[in-house]
Amino acid sequence: MPTIAFISPKGGVGKTTAAVLLASQPARGAKVSVIDADPNHPIAAWAKDAALPDNLSIIADVDEDNILDWIEEAAAKTPFVIVDLEGTAAKIAMLAVIQADLVIILMKGSQLNAEQASRAIRVLKQHEKMTGRAVLYGALLSRNSPIIRTRAMGHIQDGLVDSGVPMFKAQLHQREAFRAIFSFRQTLEELDSKNVSNLDKAIANAEQFAVEVIETLRAQCSAAAKAHEVAA
Ligand SMILES: Nc1ncnc2c1ncn2[C@@H]1O[C@H](COP(=O)(O)OP(=O)(O)OP(=O)(O)O)[C@@H](O)[C@H]1O
Ligand SMILES: [Mg+2]
Repeated sequence: MPTIAFISPKGGVGKTTAAVLLASQPARGAKVSVIDADPNHPIAAWAKDAALPDNLSIIADVDEDNILDWIEEAAAKTPFVIVDLEGTAAKIAMLAVIQADLVIILMKGSQLNAEQASRAIRVLKQHEKMTGRAVLYGALLSRNSPIIRTRAMGHIQDGLVDSGVPMFKAQLHQREAFRAIFSFRQTLEELDSKNVSNLDKAIANAEQFAVEVIETLRAQCSAAAKAHEVAA
């Protein structure tokens, strides 16, 4: 049932990449629907040639008039629904966010990105107020070097944590394999380590991210169950 939406206040930070990586991880065990709500349909294009796991399905015929129906339908059919969006400002993104159980805000480790991510979070908070429903969200650092953590980067991360932004411990580093899934139109597991350097590290990185997402959803689920018990 959980619906996970990827947003970012800035383009090109790695939403689609993160969505594909996450979708092909739980797919090994559980059924996953991916709603490709980007009008350019990058995931549908990737999926056309990729030998998809049987339990992964892609829905691309999505616009702001039907996204809520598609999410509802997908959530009834598969235990996981992943929504890839074009940005935060678009109405379609807000519709998906309202429906999501977890919103993942992608950002690069730059001051500008951090400020933009904070703005995206303020928009989420406004929606919480309007709908009366709390949105579980977390910021995910993407495309940073797996080797170098600069002081400036540490400063930005600390600033976000200090201002109460929930951050994923995992980061999706800048890795050739994460680019190669689109070049070769394959899942990470299908890539050939002869063609792609550090494939094992990329697989471990994607797994670490997926595990944290599942743990975050589980923690939320048990917190909600406890609150329900107390209220009953
Ligand atoms: N972790 C990563 N390592 C290496 N390359 C990456 C990574 N994340 C994204 N890229 C590359 O950066 C480019 C933009 O990534 P992607 O399409 O995932 O971003 P996006 O946020 O979905 O962009 P848009 O806003 O246009 O939808 C792509 O060429 C992708 O292959
Ligand atoms: Mg994208």
